[in-house]
Amino acid sequence: MPIFTPPSPALQKAWWKETIVYQIYPRSFKDSNDDGIGDLNGITEKLDYLHGLGIETLWLNPIFASPNADNGYDISDYRQIMPDFGTMEDFDRLLKETHARGMRLLLDLVLNHTSDQHPWFCEARTSRENPYYDYYLWWPEEQGHPPYRKSHFDEKGDAWCYNAPTRSYYLHYFARQQPDLNWQSPKVRAEIYDILRFWLDKGVDGFRLDSIPYIAKDTSFPEIDLRKYPDVFPYYSLGPHLHDYLHEMNREVFSRYDCTTVGEGSKTAPEEGWKFIAPERQELDMLYHFGAADIRNETEADDPATGIPYSLLALKRMYAEWDAAVGDGWPTIYLGNHDQPRMVSRFGSDAPEWRDLSAKMLTMFLLTMRGTPYWLAGDELGMTNIRFTRIEEYDDIDTRNHYRKLLREGGDTEQFLREQQEIGRDNARTPYQWDGTLYAGFSTAKPWLRVNPNHTEVNAARELCDPDSVLNFFRRAVTLRKGHPDLVYGSFRLVDADNPQVFAYLREGTGRNYLTVLNFSPKAARFDPKTDLTEAMPLLHNYPAPPIAEKEGPIELRPYEGILYRLA
Ligand code: GLC
Ligand code: CA
Repeated sequence: MPIFTPPSPALQKAWWKETIVYQIYPRSFKDSNDDGIGDLNGITEKLDYLHGLGIETLWLNPIFASPNADNGYDISDYRQIMPDFGTMEDFDRLLKETHARGMRLLLDLVLNHTSDQHPWFCEARTSRENPYYDYYLWWPEEQGHPPYRKSHFDEKGDAWCYNAPTRSYYLHYFARQQPDLNWQSPKVRAEIYDILRFWLDKGVDGFRLDSIPYIAKDTSFPEIDLRKYPDVFPYYSLGPHLHDYLHEMNREVFSRYDCTTVGEGSKTAPEEGWKFIAPERQELDMLYHFGAADIRNETEADDPATGIPYSLLALKRMYAEWDAAVGDGWPTIYLGNHDQPRMVSRFGSDAPEWRDLSAKMLTMFLLTMRGTPYWLAGDELGMTNIRFTRIEEYDDIDTRNHYRKLLREGGDTEQFLREQQEIGRDNARTPYQWDGTLYAGFSTAKPWLRVNPNHTEVNAARELCDPDSVLNFFRRAVTLRKGHPDLVYGSFRLVDADNPQVFAYLREGTGRNYLTVLNFSPKAARFDPKTDLTEAMPLLHNYPAPPIAEKEGPIELRPYEGILYRLA
């Protein structure tokens, strides 16, 4: 199979390539009944606002019945709406109103695990003879203690949990309230396809499939040496038959509907990633890889003098690799989501002097790259990390259980809390900032998670009235992308690839060519376009006037300056 092939001119057009996917964390978007929790009617209320921004596709984080150990990523009934969020009638209305505006709706399905309160698991855990026992993954007690597996969220770090009635341990790669399903069972797969059909028959336009590489793992559970991280990943995910399952799911379900699919591709490298999305393999449409999310962990800053706290060279290389690796498949782009810090806090700067400029620069990046942009609600306002100082302020099971684990092991909890200010997941989950009132117009009751105090300044009501706001810049960028199909379908090529401060790329289409030039640093930068820009037309820039281009030679960029040129 081809790896690293350039896209062919025969690349198929599709609505999901042209759209921006706007991600809504329903708990945090808008509370319609003043219980402090966002809900479906709240989203319906705000559809006109979203439509006015040019948004055409919504992705909702899980809205299904759930005891909320992990805010909906532990589903106890795949065919019911979580009461906090409303009723099935509320959902039907939301879907109808979304479609009435020509918009689309994607749901987030968690298929690697269920809640431990799901009826399947309640049955399974009663006896080895129960027909549902085989729906999950077990290690029988008579074989001794199971080989160690690390859990993402467990407060002891152990992915095995002992279940006395069955005299066996069940596997949970996430929290112990999230037992892993056994995808080797044809019955489990059939149940899952039924669930997918249930929602597609209602008219939803597709799915984000949570943690999808994890559905297939080595279930012989050999002893592994965790010091060999990250070589141990194959034991956790990307295991045997993964692509058979995805192809089967496509054949049984997706191919029979007009829908799109995006798999969350944690820990998937480009060499593996293309397999999910190569059109001829008929698996998924898109893979939401972790290239950008992982960048800071793996690399150091290129040069402290640039003021960029991560390696921009690595970021550029990573996107170029993915772009090539997808071949005739289609890339995805994002810089933030409900599991990551706010994009401006992480990839730009949320210091008062740079927040607006860097948020606009990152907006240009996401909306002019090749690939479908995934946009987290609130980033269009320039929302920032909240940076809680006390563990009690956090709601997230990941943060809380890691803290407990450190307490138990005598680890450095102070250091942990400092790190969480930068990377904690709740930073991106604070309520949407609608206005400057007490609870930011999100609710009249105390919200489930504290509102960022900067909502008095960073909020939709103020920004809608300010032509220079991040919000209005976003709106302009969205309109521009829609009006220039070559910004969607044109090819991608890095320019001045070794520049440690500037991310620049050419988009070459069948009609027009475009050049995006972005200074990712808080320092002035030089950029050599290697071409004459005097005749180029600046279409979008984040300073009042674009830089002066000479016939040849480098141009000088101001901190976080971004320009999109249409080339002559
Ligand atoms: C995905 C979700 C995350 C969740 C985890 C377990 O990574 O994005 O929020 O905690 O899967 O379902
Ligand atoms: Ca509510």
